[in-house]
Amino acid sequence: MSATGNRRTPLIAGNWKMYKTVSQAEAFIAALLPRVSSLQGVDVAVCPPYLALQALVDSARGSPVQVYAQNMHHAPEGAFTGEVSAPMLVEVGVHGVILGHSERRQMFGETDRALQLKVPAALEAGLVPILCVGETEEEREAGDTERKLRHQVQEDLARVETGRLGEVVIAYEPIWAIGSGRVATPERAQEAIAFVRALVADRSREQAERTRVLYGGSVKSENCGELLCLPDIDGALVGGGSLDPESFAAIADAAASS
Ligand code: PGA
Repeated sequence: MSATGNRRTPLIAGNWKMYKTVSQAEAFIAALLPRVSSLQGVDVAVCPPYLALQALVDSARGSPVQVYAQNMHHAPEGAFTGEVSAPMLVEVGVHGVILGHSERRQMFGETDRALQLKVPAALEAGLVPILCVGETEEEREAGDTERKLRHQVQEDLARVETGRLGEVVIAYEPIWAIGSGRVATPERAQEAIAFVRALVADRSREQAERTRVLYGGSVKSENCGELLCLPDIDGALVGGGSLDPESFAAIADAAASS
């Protein structure tokens, strides 16, 4: 049980994006493991590029660190050049997968329709999906944040069985806060995350109580404390702040003791 009074175990996930070669990933995990192995009450995950997945799964075996991918195709196999499927990730020992990150939506044409297939496909294969949602700066200024979140959460989870909604992790990442150093204020993050949870509760109150909702966007070891102590925030999806083992371990430590 976390200090916030709910039964959800916080998750601190490091999204490395297109950073680190296999040897750099191995050096990172060797430095991270001694810093996080005694932490209690927090799940710690690293999400490297595909090529480093196997090496990290091997190095992290027997430790509390889980390994997630950053994307996958919805089909188990097929003529989809350049894609990787959920069963392929499961075979290497990957625990979960980030889906619908705003960089994939904006730069690689990821659609809500594709996510409608990917989220249930991940669950079906035994992966924990981290579904990313969030508004652009223009949408926020136009007062459209809730409309955007409602659209993304409802569409992207539409084909997930109600009884499995609680297994999906949702990361609320305001796009203007990603990589910008402009972290959302705790009030704003709490408000948006409570709204995301309420959207899940529209389908099932019980499942919404189980769903972990993370904050993402310029989380660093210096600012994570004020976010992680908020009642609806169940952890963080960390980009830049996850690339250095010391800083990433400090964020995991703040979640463990928050
Ligand atoms: P950032 O990235 O922490 O570097 O802002 C977060 C993300 O893109 O998931």
